[in-house]
Amino acid sequence: MFDVIVIGAGPGGYVAAIRAAQLGLKTACVESRGALGGTCLNVGCIPSKALLQSSETFSHVQHKVSEHGVKVTGVSLDLAQMMKRKDEIVIGLTKGVEGLFKKNKITWLQGHGRFAGKGKVAVDAADGSSQTYDTKNIIIATGSEPVELKSIAPFDQKFVINSTDALALDKVPGHIVVIGAGVIGLEMGSVWRRLGSKITVIEAADKVLPPMDGAISAAMQKILTKQGFEFLLNAKLTGTKVDGKQVKVLFDHDGQKKELAADKVLVAVGRRPNTFKLGLETVGLALQPNGRIPVDGHFRTPVENIYAIGDVIDGVMLAHKAEDEGIAAAEIIAGKSGHVNYEAIPNVVYTWPEIASVGKTEEQCKAKGIDIRIGQFPFAANGRAKCRGETDGFVKIIADAKTDRLLGLHIIGPNASELIAEGAIAFEFGGSAEDLARSSHAHPTLAEVIKEAALSVDKRAIHI
Ligand code: NAI
Repeated sequence: MFDVIVIGAGPGGYVAAIRAAQLGLKTACVESRGALGGTCLNVGCIPSKALLQSSETFSHVQHKVSEHGVKVTGVSLDLAQMMKRKDEIVIGLTKGVEGLFKKNKITWLQGHGRFAGKGKVAVDAADGSSQTYDTKNIIIATGSEPVELKSIAPFDQKFVINSTDALALDKVPGHIVVIGAGVIGLEMGSVWRRLGSKITVIEAADKVLPPMDGAISAAMQKILTKQGFEFLLNAKLTGTKVDGKQVKVLFDHDGQKKELAADKVLVAVGRRPNTFKLGLETVGLALQPNGRIPVDGHFRTPVENIYAIGDVIDGVMLAHKAEDEGIAAAEIIAGKSGHVNYEAIPNVVYTWPEIASVGKTEEQCKAKGIDIRIGQFPFAANGRAKCRGETDGFVKIIADAKTDRLLGLHIIGPNASELIAEGAIAFEFGGSAEDLARSSHAHPTLAEVIKEAALSVDKRAIHI
């Protein structure tokens, strides 16, 4: 009898298992993939960041180092080595999670996990055998998978591909049409653009990264266009047709029917929760109309002793959100008071420059009728950004006009993914723009742009 069985070993599930084990609970984690770490480590966050780093290095050497007085000739791409490096990073990290399971005495139940009645989890192994385990608590952490537009663009792994396929192409395609200007579209589009592909993005909305703050998304569109992206906004995919060695992409754009020829179509229109073949009916657990698993503020489903976290429940589909929920759920099961502050979860897009944000957008504040003050400061006026030769972008801070409490912090610029940690902590502490403005920031650093943006909320930025 286990105290906890976690179904799914992604960043939500494996972290929940480790925390449960730390708290003295007898813990098992079911995972059918041959490696631990879920989408994030195997076919998501980690391999994409490895390729983003490698392709950025390639692009940097080609286009940027000469301005530093560094002459390089004969630069060429070794795609096989780039992919090998990515695969080695993935293997290293997934093996690392295996090591953490051993260290924490967590049992890895290899196979597909499903409910087999109250307090019972069946694990169907790849060899066809099946075993059922008893447990006091179950955490569902089965994550999500790419949405497939089955009727108009079924995945064939050759011409019509998803994010997993886009991480493992064996040659640089001439032209990739990306469906969706969301996070995956822009990140994977960036990788292949830097390696030489022509990238056309078809986006149904009237802006790139639709949920982002308007100023940030407009700046991103401009910068990526400069990098060679072509954006077709207000455009909706209507069909794909494989035509010899290419694929025809059919779409409606501004009320007209259009088509493009491409070597690959990358469909990146969102992800859907993995809730099928889980045997939820055996315990009477019904899904919400949006396909996600209902939970209360303590990650409890309506069925006693069954919890759910990560992409299968409501909220943003982000690895760190799932991790935080996994820790909180394990603590709640152990009788502690785990908690997640959803207001302070950062969101990052790993393009170059990067985008990172925490809190509300200007549009969200206005829609709620909140009286706000905004401060903005460009990286172009920052000494360190100039020394690095990376001056694109700005920091935008939104504060409550009456209380000065931070409502939104949005960064587009170099190292935004790291800089946002300062914002997330300020949000966690319920900080104000004045708190950021009065905090000493080392000089010269990129972080000074945050301080200056905070000063600019009160119209007293120094360097502009
Ligand atoms: P997304 O939700 O970020 O973007 C999908 C885009 O496709 C939207 O802009 C939408 O308007 C557009 N779209 C939908 N249907 C369309 C159609 N028929 N024709 C044209 N455009 C259409 O989804 P994405 O990029 O697939 O990412 C999935 C999830 O993975 C996201 O929720 C994200 O949270 C997560 N993710 C996070 C990353 C990060 O944190 N850096 C990296 C990659 C993924």
